[in-house]
Amino acid sequence: RVGFSSIEAEVEGGVATITVARPEALNALNKQVMQELVSACLFLDRNHPSAKVIIVTGSGDKAFAAGADIKEMATLSYADAYNSSLLNGWETLRTVRKPIIAAVNGYALGGGCELAMMCDIILASDKAQFGQPEITLGVIPGMGGTQRLTRAVGKSRAMEMILTGQRIGAAEAERIGLVSRVVPAAELMAEARKLASKIAEFSTPVVEKAKECVLVAQEQSLGEGLRFEKREFWSCWALDDQKEGMGAFVQKRKPAFTHK
Ligand code: CAA
Repeated sequence: RVGFSSIEAEVEGGVATITVARPEALNALNKQVMQELVSACLFLDRNHPSAKVIIVTGSGDKAFAAGADIKEMATLSYADAYNSSLLNGWETLRTVRKPIIAAVNGYALGGGCELAMMCDIILASDKAQFGQPEITLGVIPGMGGTQRLTRAVGKSRAMEMILTGQRIGAAEAERIGLVSRVVPAAELMAEARKLASKIAEFSTPVVEKAKECVLVAQEQSLGEGLRFEKREFWSCWALDDQKEGMGAFVQKRKPAFTHK
């Protein structure tokens, strides 16, 4: 368990959990949260081979994150905002190769919804609420919301959410495909750990290849994506784990992946 001031991070049995720890501000994402969360993810990704999957969640029972920190941004001049590159650190999360699961335990608004969408799988508690309320503050989403929400739920619904700022509940988020599934609030972290542990059983390099291919589907054309997938598919044959996985199937036994 490693202590930061705005997040908590712990690793247990192949699964790392990062908790945004500003419950008094509904886990609003200020610069310090961004720096700590991003550096924890990068450290876990590059220097912690035993952590195979990362869960991101929020402290307390009200919020995953109620957005970027409005108080930090409210009085910035345009020049200060532009020069400070205040939100740019979030882009670095895209370089994390291990899967990241967002366990959304309450409000995921503005930057909070955008952080959840930066993750690879969103599990929602039945108390979760999602929204992009920036329009009510006189701004637009600035951590990827206009792009990722549109890809997640389609143009019309994304437009409606972004242009009205209205929140949606967990069941609706599941219905429109924003989240993978909804679980009772009390079971959220147990379900997230169960899901993470399942993924952690498999070959780490193969899991990372699969994640990269799915992300390519969001960014590139079908033709480019299919070519990318085919190359990554055959590159699995360079791994011991491909021999082990297919060999175990043929020999009717459980595979023992070495993550190599
Ligand atoms: N930034 C800074 N502080 C925040 C915050 C935020 N995004 N959200 C909540 N807080 C603070 C509140 O100011 C309050 O602090 P004080 O006790 O010091 O007054 C504390 O957290 C508790 O919040 P509330 O009293 O408002 O709690 P509530 O239960 O009455 O309401 C809420 C909950 C509906 C989520 C409400 O807090 C809210 O609307 N928050 C703002 C949501 C929002 O607009 N998010 C978008 C931010 S902009 C953004 O994210 C830009 C981007 O795309 C990058």
